[in-house]
Amino acid sequence: MLRVHWYLVVTGLLAAAGCRADRPERLRPAPGAKTGTVTIHIPDRLTSVPTGEVDALGKPLRASCVSCHSLRRPDALPASMAELDEFHGGLTFQHGELSCGSCHVVGDQSELRRADGTAIAMRDAMSLCAQCHGPQFRDYSHGAHGGMNGHWDLSAGDRVRNHCVDCHDPHMPAFQPSLPVLRPQDRGVRANRGEHPARAGHAEGAAR
Ligand code: HEC
Ligand code: HEC
Ligand code: HEC
Ligand code: HEC
Repeated sequence: MLRVHWYLVVTGLLAAAGCRADRPERLRPAPGAKTGTVTIHIPDRLTSVPTGEVDALGKPLRASCVSCHSLRRPDALPASMAELDEFHGGLTFQHGELSCGSCHVVGDQSELRRADGTAIAMRDAMSLCAQCHGPQFRDYSHGAHGGMNGHWDLSAGDRVRNHCVDCHDPHMPAFQPSLPVLRPQDRGVRANRGEHPARAGHAEGAAR
């Protein structure tokens, strides 16, 4: 009961100060803000690899592909992952009967190649996936595959789509049991955690 009283006191104070506890002003788009755009998330893995080091603020440091590959000029692609022993060790490949050259080009590793030989930027990898996975790309384009964040109603705000490689490793594309993205959080459930022992137990389990 005590907790309820405190809640009333705090909301009372907030109301007196002219703030709205239910919908903070900062969550609304600024007047004149651009809304209604759909962007595709470009994952870091398309442009850089983790170094295992962290910066002064504890943020993981990544090395861009071009930082090494603009200097490296090999004359052929490897035939398998096992040939990578100097760097990129431990990768596995399980994606049909494809060869490395189905997607990679010799030399410039900021690019990929399509089946007809045209080079595309690494960040446009989705158009490469789409070449061989027409039905999934069609479903993705309709919003039935691949998920999204933000607004369904574009007149209310922006939307962000996931990239194919957010969920599928291009070398091991079978959907992996551990999720590379956080599952959706239900704000209502989280706020009420104390009042719902079953839910609280569930949430604790997930945090462990
Ligand atoms: C720290 C340097 C470094 C970074 C960063 C790096 N690579 Fe490499 N990469 C190498 C080296 C060295 C090899 C050769 C490894 C071997 O043959 O054992 C290689 C090999 C490769 C190969 C095999 C074909 C070739 O050119 O030898 C591909 C494909 C490749 N890297 C892609 C990438 C991509 C894509 C990124 C970024 C996501 C990246 N690399 C980031 C150093 C790097
Ligand atoms: C279906 C297309 C596809 C095929 C086939 C493919 N790759 Fe890749 N590869 C990619 C994409 C896209 C990336 C971008 C980084 C990522 O998502 O891992 C990548 C990244 C890489 C990297 C950078 C490091 C990393 O951790 O991903 C290396 C090394 C690499 N590929 C080597 C190979 C080798 C060797 C083969 C053949 C055994 C191969 N790839 C086959 C699409 C492919
Ligand atoms: C050159 C054609 C080609 C390209 C490019 C290609 N794939 Fe595939 N992919 C295949 C084939 C063939 C299979 C079927 C493998 C099998 O059935 O064993 C497959 C299988 C898959 C599967 C199912 C895996 C499973 O085991 O269930 C996924 C997911 C997938 N690809 C995602 C991707 C993504 C993401 C990209 C882009 C980075 C991509 N593919 C690019 C040809 C391709
Ligand atoms: C939000 C994550 C997510 C994104 C983004 C995503 N997929 Fe998938 N994809 C899945 C899941 C989950 C499955 C089902 C895996 C299963 O049934 O085991 C799947 C299955 C597939 C399959 C195998 C279908 C089959 O019948 O076995 C292919 C191929 C595929 N996706 C391609 C793509 C392509 C191409 C893109 C980008 C245009 C993409 N996916 C984007 C999550 C995703």
